[in-house]
Amino acid sequence: RPLSQERIPDDVFEAMRRENLARWPTGKEVVLEEAIELHKRLPRHKRLAYVMRRAVDEGRCLTQPRGGFGTFRLQLELMQILDKEGLADIVPTTTDSYTRNEQWALAQKGIEESERAGRSMLNGYPIVNYGVAVSRQLIEAIDKPAIMLTGTAMPKLTAEIGFAAGYSGYLGSGIAYTSSYIKELSIEEGIRNYQYLDRLAALYQEHGVELHRRQPGFLTGTNIPPCIAITTCVLDALLAAAQGVKNYGLEMGQTLHLVQDAAAVRACQELVQEYLRKAGYTDVFTPVTLLHWMGAWPHDDAQSAALVVYGGTLAAIAGAVSVTTKTTHEAFGIPTPQANAEGLRMTRMAIYLARRIRLDALPEFQFEVELIKREVRPIIDRTLEMGDGDAAVGTVRAFEAGVLDIPWSPNRWCKSRVMPARDADGCLRILDPGLMPFPKEVLEIHEERLKRRAKKEGVPFGPELAVSSVYEISEPLAKLMSD
Ligand code: 5AD
Repeated sequence: RPLSQERIPDDVFEAMRRENLARWPTGKEVVLEEAIELHKRLPRHKRLAYVMRRAVDEGRCLTQPRGGFGTFRLQLELMQILDKEGLADIVPTTTDSYTRNEQWALAQKGIEESERAGRSMLNGYPIVNYGVAVSRQLIEAIDKPAIMLTGTAMPKLTAEIGFAAGYSGYLGSGIAYTSSYIKELSIEEGIRNYQYLDRLAALYQEHGVELHRRQPGFLTGTNIPPCIAITTCVLDALLAAAQGVKNYGLEMGQTLHLVQDAAAVRACQELVQEYLRKAGYTDVFTPVTLLHWMGAWPHDDAQSAALVVYGGTLAAIAGAVSVTTKTTHEAFGIPTPQANAEGLRMTRMAIYLARRIRLDALPEFQFEVELIKREVRPIIDRTLEMGDGDAAVGTVRAFEAGVLDIPWSPNRWCKSRVMPARDADGCLRILDPGLMPFPKEVLEIHEERLKRRAKKEGVPFGPELAVSSVYEISEPLAKLMSD
């Protein structure tokens, strides 16, 4: 079928599912009717869609870590520790890299090596290999909703197994993950793969089970200004809504500037709803999540602890519905369950302390919200125009033309001409727009602020500003003290 945003028809989808489930023996364990019954039996507080809606109603900011180990035993223990010792509101399962790349035979070897070594030799939980029946025990072992974190542009089988096992949330999207996680898969293929997943979530919905789908923000490990993150949030949300998704979260990495992050959360919420409504979708729930710093982390324990705590503060003040946490182990690799639980508790305490603070009345906040909207709308409008109103076609064409662009993307179909940098006040700005159609008056604002920083630091106005912004946060404290 030619690419389009249209909902995949029932008969076509049925055939796609049959073919998909036949790719690995555990696919046989997926029986839709049983999975639906399982989800209906889950208590409300273990369903992520419900828990996210309730958090909005109560004005709470939820905490969610990441976490995955290579054997069932280790994964079970991890999830229980995150639930009980970390007081996580949402319990994760991160899959390993073989699973993300659909190399299940290699994942199998990783399981065996992990069993032999008595520790995890994989960087996540190989859920496809363990299958539905085994993974259901993970859901039974915790008293919170569980979310799949699978960092991949190829989620089709993983999602089938995860949903059938009782996971009620799934992180990932066609535009964000394809442009930030993989070199050799086209944006079109990535969109198609996630149309499958969104259509699957809608199939559960048709049977009375509301699942939580979530757009993942960017994981390029570099700086992404809010306008670029939000542009992809809007387009990914339009694609999901077209497949029938009703519960769709949006994630953004923290810029670490309190005012800009708060403005980003507000602008994201409003712009996503604005474009969904314009396209005729009036009943899609779209909570916003902030992610602890996604760039390079310091090696010093104390420095990272500050970043964890500050990340909780930012999320609370920004009014994010949840925050995805990191740990003091971030610079070194995968955290121990205990460090992971500590990251959660540090964040939880910071949220508590800042829970009543909002910036709504602050002129700088209002200015940033409006600025982001002036940045995002022209890019979205042009993209939709390029697809004659179709978000899928428009997205592919806009990437080809550089109208949509992501800084430092590993993907071959993405130009990566756009370049961000931190300005004199600490906000992320556009240093070079590449071919993205930002309005001239908007770019002048960015340029003025970046030039002020260049002058202050006595460096030329150019790419060096962008490069130093990428490393800044991981620099040793002694070096940062000169500013
Ligand atoms: N366990 C815990 N955290 C993980 N991350 C990735 N894999 C795991 C895992 N198995 C986290 C790291 C990384 C982010 C994208 O996800 O913090 O920076």
